[in-house]
Amino acid sequence: MTITPNTDPFALARLLSGLHLINGALVPAASGTSFDVINPATGAVIGTAAEGDARDVDAAVTAAAKAQKAWKAMPARERGKLVVECGRRLMDHVDELGRLIALETGKALRTESRIEASVLADAFVFFGGLASELKGESVPFNPSMLTVTVREPIGVVGAIIPWNVPLLLMALKVAPALVAGNAVVVKSAEEAPLTVLRVCQIMNEVLPAGLFNILSGFGPECGAPLVSHPKVGKVTFTGSVETGKIVSRMAADKLIPVTLELGGKSPMIIMGDADLEKAIAGATAGMRFTRQGQSCTASSRIYVHDSLHDEFVRRLKANVDAMKMGDPLDESTDIGTIISPDQFARVQHYVSEGKKHGTAHVCSQLPEDPSLKDGLFIQPVIFTDLPADAAPAREEIFGPVCCVFRFTDYEAVLAEANNSEYGLAATIWTRDLKTALDAAHRLEAGFVQVNQNLVVQPNLSYGGTKLSGLGKEATLESMLEHFTHKKTIIVNMG
Ligand code: NAI
Ligand code: MG
Repeated sequence: MTITPNTDPFALARLLSGLHLINGALVPAASGTSFDVINPATGAVIGTAAEGDARDVDAAVTAAAKAQKAWKAMPARERGKLVVECGRRLMDHVDELGRLIALETGKALRTESRIEASVLADAFVFFGGLASELKGESVPFNPSMLTVTVREPIGVVGAIIPWNVPLLLMALKVAPALVAGNAVVVKSAEEAPLTVLRVCQIMNEVLPAGLFNILSGFGPECGAPLVSHPKVGKVTFTGSVETGKIVSRMAADKLIPVTLELGGKSPMIIMGDADLEKAIAGATAGMRFTRQGQSCTASSRIYVHDSLHDEFVRRLKANVDAMKMGDPLDESTDIGTIISPDQFARVQHYVSEGKKHGTAHVCSQLPEDPSLKDGLFIQPVIFTDLPADAAPAREEIFGPVCCVFRFTDYEAVLAEANNSEYGLAATIWTRDLKTALDAAHRLEAGFVQVNQNLVVQPNLSYGGTKLSGLGKEATLESMLEHFTHKKTIIVNMG
């Protein structure tokens, strides 16, 4: 059976309400309870999500463990073909998924949501194609012994995902886990449970029942029992540093491996010889203003050489001023909303802190449409003249707020860029190759770019150092390292 795309996100949200997907079927929570899913552009309830607890976790993990036995025994390329087929079907749903994710997260359809849906589909195609690369090695141990290593799946993988880029971040976990021969149970984010459920439903038309299950619910009640379930052999998490540490401690109790993609406060260094035009476009994209800055890689600390600083700030502000804030589902909208009242309050707190210590350049305009008056819209802010130790300059804000600093000395700015507890991404903008390479080597980050600011995508190793996380995602290497274990086999032929 093929599911027909439904491009009315309001109708789709109602259809998917109050359900988990366990063992191939859409089912309500064991508790019989659910919680509201809100459209952040209006504050209206658009549907509900099943409120999962340990009973739902156990049902999903049990189904996953059972399904994984046959999946593991299937030739790798056969698994890969099915995962590619999932990606192909998801491509037919890009518009549908884009609309639904725009509705539940407030991310603008044209600039963010539809793009995310297409990268999701691409990630499944990418990893499906890597199935035959699940190779081991032959080891020159002893001529009379055949010594090889093989890559075996771990079993059941538990994946906990956030709300900011739920489709892509889920795909970067689920696709490699499945291709490597594992079954997966995902715990979705409270704020964005519906679109990922739809993805799981579409994929369950292709995959054997039980291989890919998804639960909605709150962190301590549903996420924690997933991590601590005895049959879960690996946990992969994206979210806050605080929760990442909790997950890591629970995983340590079971001695299971864990991958963590956490926060960031990523620096962008613009040297005096940089192409200013490109740097301004790069800062606009890098700060993810179109996503209200709700990105772990947001270039939120921007260091600009004194000779370019004032012009940079003026032109960056003009760029953001020209962006239209409005209904996320409207094709003409560039910037949507913040995800939730909690995050809204958090961003506002940092903005008022920043105003005490520096200059706030407030950008763009709030929407005038009266139907959006209760929406979580916030004007982007560019701070200048902030002391380096002010909270908005040091802490992850996860909102449309960036801090621009003036510098003259290269060594000093490099030291300042590295003076952070985070180490996720960094960029350097210069026409001088020697400076570019020197900075690229010395910046403490997992993802460094010169003269550009691309987003995460399949085949580019992604992940941070320091508090930004443990382990990498998005590549063949990440599939091998994080979703398989290596077994050595020695055959004595003597
Ligand atoms: P969070 O880390 O609390 O939530 C992420 C996921 O973890 C959600 O699915 C949540 O239900 C789950 N979770 C929460 N507590 C848990 C527990 N005790 N056991 C197991 N799972 C648990 O992040 P939240 O509260 O949504 O956002 C707070 C801040 O975290 C943001 O302002 C931002 O700074 C950061 N963040 C970073 C993200 C990234 O992409 N690295 C994504 C989302 C948030
Ligand atoms: Mg939280």
